[in-house]
Amino acid sequence: PAPRASVVPDTGGWEYSGVMSALALGRQPNPYPCYQVVRERGVFLPGEIAGGRVTLVTGHAQASAALAHPAVGHGYRDGVSYRGTMEDGLGSLLRADPPDHGRLRRLVGRAFTPGVVAALAPGITETADDLLDEALAQGEVDAVTAFTRPLPLRVMCRLLGVPDVDEPLFGEWADALARGLDPRPTLSEQENAARQSATVGFEAYFRDLLADRRAHPRADLLSSLVAIHDEDGDALTETELLELCTLLLVAGYETTVNLLGASILALADHPAALAALRADPTLIGPAVEEVLRYDPPVQIIGRTILADLAIDGHELTRGEGLLMLVGAANRDPAAYDEPDTFRIDRFTGTGRARRHLGFGIGIHYCLGAPLARIEADLALRALLRRTSAITVVRDQVTFRGQIVVRGVRTLPVRLTA
Ligand code: HEM
Repeated sequence: PAPRASVVPDTGGWEYSGVMSALALGRQPNPYPCYQVVRERGVFLPGEIAGGRVTLVTGHAQASAALAHPAVGHGYRDGVSYRGTMEDGLGSLLRADPPDHGRLRRLVGRAFTPGVVAALAPGITETADDLLDEALAQGEVDAVTAFTRPLPLRVMCRLLGVPDVDEPLFGEWADALARGLDPRPTLSEQENAARQSATVGFEAYFRDLLADRRAHPRADLLSSLVAIHDEDGDALTETELLELCTLLLVAGYETTVNLLGASILALADHPAALAALRADPTLIGPAVEEVLRYDPPVQIIGRTILADLAIDGHELTRGEGLLMLVGAANRDPAAYDEPDTFRIDRFTGTGRARRHLGFGIGIHYCLGAPLARIEADLALRALLRRTSAITVVRDQVTFRGQIVVRGVRTLPVRLTA
């Protein structure tokens, strides 16, 4: 459909003044009117970050086409990358190109199976119930501290086989590493140092844990990862295993915390949707899908142009950076009817909506999507089952200061049993 006539959005005084101004939008309480302004400037917006050419992609079709294009990748190995080296502990498959990417993804897929995800389900509900026991006893809590953060942390630790006592340590490392996902020039010296020391601490910890699982295999993902071999005898090296563990923690923890927070917030803002989910919990799955479109935890997906190419008639040159603005693309009126309306039935039935970019698209499509979906579904089921009312103290909600990962920092709520 043709873009409809735009209504001037209320951006609270914010104006587009180059790519950097658009990158930090995810930190705002409501960045979406600003994303609309950015999108209306163009679907491709060229600019610079720290002297390097970077183009923002704001349209859904164009971002999808870029993510599926074989000459749009990361380019670390060939020295094309505009983001420097891969020495940030987040190498692994997230930033690898074919054929390395395919090899890693195939090997990991042998260990991270649907059975592994299904086995985590009872523990997710049990942990959610334990956390809700405590939260309900208090009545007024910060939902982040009480629920949305401890739940995914426990799930991630259980998945990897990390003992419960080490959870706090993990939480700290994950915070520092998640900021490391942001474009390097946007990190302060202090944040860089914290990221580096978390990488070192995390690697040392996992080196020991991997050695233990080699000697004494258990029923956890780590034990399977050290044991996997494909038909040709190919296996993951020690370095690859360590990178992968770091990646799983960063990619799977903060993101899920923020999906839970965004879900609670969206439901609190849409009482009719909340009531519908209470009446029929099978609607929770599609509602979570809509949250991933409406307020996605991952706001930016970055790539490098590996060879000169054109997408939708727009020319891009080798070596330049491409930043997909997920928050803008997911509300592109050319892709979705009433993009700014939260509709829990958008991804159900025959009129199924276009795929959202909340989990990415193409070869790097989120490896943990099945786990994230089941986790959010079970967490929200428990929350709705155990409460009769959820009141968010709207004016006390604060947001995290990261760029790639968006989410609430504090979410004060009153819970009624
Ligand atoms: C990749 C989002 C949960 C593991 C991705 C990508 C996105 C994403 C957007 C694509 C990045 C790109 O194309 O550059 C999310 C969101 C989650 C979530 C919003 C939760 C709500 C998880 C979980 C895990 C996980 C629970 C693991 C346990 C990964 C991995 C990749 C990835 C390993 C890289 C895949 C590859 O490069 O082939 N995720 N994710 N994610 N995610 Fe997730």
